[in-house]
Amino acid sequence: MKVLTFGTLKGGVGKTMLCFNIGGILAQLDNKVLIVDSDLQGNLTNNMGIDRTDPDLKTTYDIFNIDEPQPTPEQLVLHTPNKKIPNLDMIAGSIFLHKAELKMATVAGREQILKNYFEDHSEFFSRYDYILLDTNPSMSIVNQNAFLASDAVLLVSDVSMNALEGAQLFIALWEEARKRLRAPDNIRGFIINDFDSRNRLSADFLEFIKTSPDTADIRALMFDTIIPRNVRITESELAAVPISQYDIRSKGCEAIASLVDELAAKKIL
Ligand SMILES: Nc1ncnc2c1ncn2[C@@H]1O[C@H](COP(=O)(O)OP(=O)(O)O)[C@@H](O)[C@H]1O
Ligand SMILES: [Mg+2]
Repeated sequence: MKVLTFGTLKGGVGKTMLCFNIGGILAQLDNKVLIVDSDLQGNLTNNMGIDRTDPDLKTTYDIFNIDEPQPTPEQLVLHTPNKKIPNLDMIAGSIFLHKAELKMATVAGREQILKNYFEDHSEFFSRYDYILLDTNPSMSIVNQNAFLASDAVLLVSDVSMNALEGAQLFIALWEEARKRLRAPDNIRGFIINDFDSRNRLSADFLEFIKTSPDTADIRALMFDTIIPRNVRITESELAAVPISQYDIRSKGCEAIASLVDELAAKKIL
């Protein structure tokens, strides 16, 4: 079992998209995959076609809600919520995660609740080949739980200086937090998404990362695979299926599949 988290401090760059589609590809390759929505916006949960207004729905909030006993994984994990994607299970996200933040603020070991949950139920979770976590752009306690529980954190950026700065700020903040937590360095990659080859700004951005003295940290983490802007990706999200099922021959799918290959070659998967 390997735990991977997509993160950065900028929104709208493709974290959820990659979590959903990499999860889909890995599941299609016959791996047992669990995706976990740690973003209170719940986009990943929506992508899986889950009704978040269902009052009985158990979510990540129930892991972090220290006022109640935690649910068992059997109660929490949704098995194949999207019938089109066998092998893909999910823990849904919840708007109530913001309440968990407040409740956890003064509790000892607050950053380790998720890691402990995986460990306490290791028999259940070890049945998965991969657990992929989606986060929102913040260094919230919920997110620190995700990063701490991860074998690898993958930074995602679109083609913008704000996204690049968001990734660098993430590196600085997580470095500080994880040292305090005595956790090893687990940032293992920087993924460039939404690359538009017809736009000179995209090429300039890549050139900047490859040459600037200020981006050595990012360069060291950067994947060779670059994910293009591709309308089939947007369409597949609307159709609530991973791109690998929506259009396997699209440029977007080819790129994400080659990113999966690169992750495997680098032993991150
Ligand atoms: N490479 C891409 N090509 C086309 N649309 C994309 C691409 N990457 C992301 N999108 C779309 O952009 C929007 C934002 O992506 P999302 O994954 O939700 O960002 P984040 O989770 O980082 O906030 C989504 O609607 C998504 O479908
Ligand atoms: Mg998202």
